[in-house]
This record gives sequence, C-alpha cells and structure tokens, in this order.
Amino acid sequence: MKEVVINLAYLLASAMFVIGLKGLTHPRTAVRGNLTGALGMLLAIVVTLIDQRIIGYEVIIAGAVVGGLIGAVFAIKIQMTAMPQMVALFNGFGGGASVLVAGAALIESGIIEVSGSMTQLVVATVFSGLIGSVTFWGSLIAMFKLWEKVVPGGNVTFPGLQVVNAILAIICVALGVMIIMDPTNITLYWGLVAAAGVMGILLTIPIGGADMPVVIALLNSYSGLAAAATGFVLSNNVLIIAGSLVGASGLILTSIMCKAMNRSLANVIFGKLAPAEGAATADEVYAGKVKAASPEEVAMLFDTARRVVFVPGYGMAVAQAQHVVRDLANWLTSNKGAEVEYAIHPVAGRMPGHMNVLLAEANVPYDQLKEMDEINPTLDTADVAMVIGANDVVNPVARTDPKSPIAGMPIIDVDKCRTVVIVKRSLSPGFAGIPNPLFAADNTLMMFGDGKKALLELVAALKEG
Ligand code: TAP
Repeated sequence: MKEVVINLAYLLASAMFVIGLKGLTHPRTAVRGNLTGALGMLLAIVVTLIDQRIIGYEVIIAGAVVGGLIGAVFAIKIQMTAMPQMVALFNGFGGGASVLVAGAALIESGIIEVSGSMTQLVVATVFSGLIGSVTFWGSLIAMFKLWEKVVPGGNVTFPGLQVVNAILAIICVALGVMIIMDPTNITLYWGLVAAAGVMGILLTIPIGGADMPVVIALLNSYSGLAAAATGFVLSNNVLIIAGSLVGASGLILTSIMCKAMNRSLANVIFGKLAPAEGAATADEVYAGKVKAASPEEVAMLFDTARRVVFVPGYGMAVAQAQHVVRDLANWLTSNKGAEVEYAIHPVAGRMPGHMNVLLAEANVPYDQLKEMDEINPTLDTADVAMVIGANDVVNPVARTDPKSPIAGMPIIDVDKCRTVVIVKRSLSPGFAGIPNPLFAADNTLMMFGDGKKALLELVAALKEG
C-alpha cells in the first residue's frame, strides 16, 4: 500500500513538472508554471525522504527552510543582468550533487557485495560522475567568464588544447571501464571525477563570454542527464523523469539559440566569431553616409507617426532603458494615438528571453510584444522603427553577404520601415564585431547617446513640443 502511495505521489510530481514546463512557454503563465514545477519538486523531495526513512521530519523541515532562505536571498539580491551567472552556478550545483550522490551510492554498495545485479548501478554511477563533474567545473568557468572575475571573458586557448581534451576523454572512458570491472575500487571513481573536471574546464575556457548563454543551456542539459543517471543509481523514478525533462529542455533551448544565430553547436563550442577576410571596413561602410539627429529632431518625426515599432537589444539592457522605453510608448499611444509594438529577436541581448524579461519588468503589455516571424512581414507599413541598443539582430548583411559571420541569421527587417532611428552611443560594432550598413542607410537617423539618457531627452522634447 505504502509503495502505491509513494509511486502515485511521484506520478503527480512528474505531471506537475510537465505542466510547469508548459506554463513556462508563455510570459502570461510563466510565474504559475514556475510555482507548479517548484511545488512538484517539493512533493518529490518530501515523499523520497519519507520513503527512505533516513531522517526525521524536523530535519526535512529545517532543510526546506534553509534552502528556501538561500533561494529567496539569491532571488532578491541578484540583478536581472546577472541572471545568467546565477543559472550557471545552480546548474553546476546540480552536476556536483549528482557526482556526490552517485559516489556515495557506490561506496555504500561496494561495502555490501558486488554482484551481477550491480551492473546497472555501476554504469549509471560512471555516467553520473563523468557528466556531473564536466557540468560542475564547466558551469563554474561559465559563471566566472560571465562575471568577468577570475577567468577573462574572451576566448582563452593554447596550442594542442583539443588534443589534451581528446586524451582526457580517452582517460575517462578507460577509467569508466575499469570502474565497471572493479566497482569496489573507489579511487578509480574519484580519478574519473577529477579527469572529467579538468575536461569540463578545458572545454569551456576557450569559448568567448558572449557565447556563454548557449554553453549554459548545454550544461543545463548535461546537469539533467547527470541527474537522470543518478536516478538510475538510486532506482528513483521521479529523479529519472525530472533529469530527462531538464536534459531534453536544455537541448531544445540550445538548438533554438544556435538556430536563431544561424550557427552550429560545433561552431559555438570550437569556433570563433570573426569578420570575414576582405569584408568592408567600418570606414568604407560609414564614411560620409551617417546622419545624426538630435532628440528634438527625432521628436518631430513622431508627430505624424501612426505605427511605431521598438526594437530592443543588448544596449537597452546595459542602459537599463526599459522603463523609459515604456514611458515613451505610453506617451505616444495616449497623446498621439499611435499604434505601438515591440519586435523581439530570439537572441537579442545576451541570454534567452533577455528582452522579454526586461520589458515584463517594466510592465509592458504582453500583447505588444511581437516575435520576429510575426512582425517581419508587416514592417513595411511601420512609420518609425526605433532600435534601442540593438545591432547584429537588425544588420541586413545577414541577408546580403554570404561571407559575413552572421550570414543567414534571421534578422528583424527594420530597414524596410519608412524611417529607422537607431539609439546607441557610437558606431561601435555589436557582438559579431562587424559594421552595420543600416546605420548608413538613406532612411536611417542615428540618435547617439546612452540608451536611457537619450530616450529621457526625447521624451522631454516630445512633452515640450
Ligand atoms: P549587439 O549586436 O551585441 O549590439 C549591442 C549594441 O548595444 C552595441 O552595438 C552597442 O553600441 C550598444 N550599446 C551598448 N551599451 C549601450 C548603452 N548604454 N546605450 C545604448 N546602446 C548601447 O546586440 P543585439 O543586437 O542585441 O544582438 C545580440 C548578439 O548577441 C547577437 O549577435 C547574438 O547572436 C549574440 N548572442 C546572443 C545570445 C542570447 S541567448 N541572447 C547568446 C549568445 C550570443 P555602442 O557601444 O555604440 O553603444
């Protein structure tokens, strides 16, 4: 009877994970989805602890309170722009936990007796140790890179790095086979964990800081696989299901990001973004063609604009300009009767959903947020497109130059709008490091300045005029 109740509780928890993930697919249901998933996890943990009878209720409650407090402090203290670092750290903890739990299970079973039935446990333990350790150390490096502390954010590499990685991979496989043949030798397990850890560091260190979101999504998927392997070690169904869900969703997210950048995963992990040989220089693209406009001049444009599209990018996040963008949009709607929309590119900014999160924080209505595929066919009817700190995601060379590092990347076609206003501090390139001919186009005006400051001046000019 007890077994039935436990398994039903696990089934309920698994269903809550799936419903939670479904909720996370839309901003409107995301908070509820997050809560549903968290409640499912609470149920799974409590039921597991009761089932195992390892510790008393008071310890379970104390653990939940301490864990909840740590989570709440992180949630309150961490800035929105530091969210990728936090996700990297938490991924790493997941991998580290898998290493320790699987190691403990191996020690415990080794003390008892080695029999044929242990093969599943040992194979799963090898996977947990290997993937968990790569995830833990890789995630720590990813966190430090994004934070630009300890490890420089750029590509750090040395000759023969891939050869060293290949040798480490062979050592890991050899140690794995030796553990399966002699599971009582725990030293072999820690040797595997150490070799996999070095591999995790060396695989992550050459990847540039700006590619870290893709790496973090991939490591997230690894942490799920490590957890699923640990589920097999412990014969715990809910851990297998939760780990598989994390593994699959991490992989899907990785693939969405690669697709949105039109880059393969191998190119993100082993490649480097660099302008193509013989590509036009910034001087050739911009010389004598760029038109600067003051906030007062841009304010006049809005007098007759019926349809305005805002295109946010990484610079909006840096300038924290999302609130003033919303104020500007609200002013245009209520005082000029303009129709306002926001065009959201899937990789604008530096993390998945970066722009959605910032605009949601500024209480921009969800129905004004349009995905790239939805808004692109309508952009030729927009009077003004205002690009705030975005660069690569509106660069038309993605369509026109097959040699460009962003060739084939889908972009927001703002160049098709009647007038384009670009808000940024200079003509500096974006993440891909290439000039953007849009800045020199006939229908483009550059409003130079920090995103927030320039827009505050524009709002003031609109109110005065
Ligand atoms: P970027 O192409 O990186 O351009 C950002 C622009 O913001 C820069 O040109 C910069 O110009 C401007 N900027 C910086 N600080 C500013 C400030 N305070 N005020 C105003 N402007 C400011 O950004 P994007 O268009 O959002 O494209 C994202 C890029 O990141 C893509 O290439 C994408 O592939 C890559 N990427 C994204 C992700 C995810 S998941 N989002 C992951 C990995 C890589 P100034 O210096 O002249 O101001």
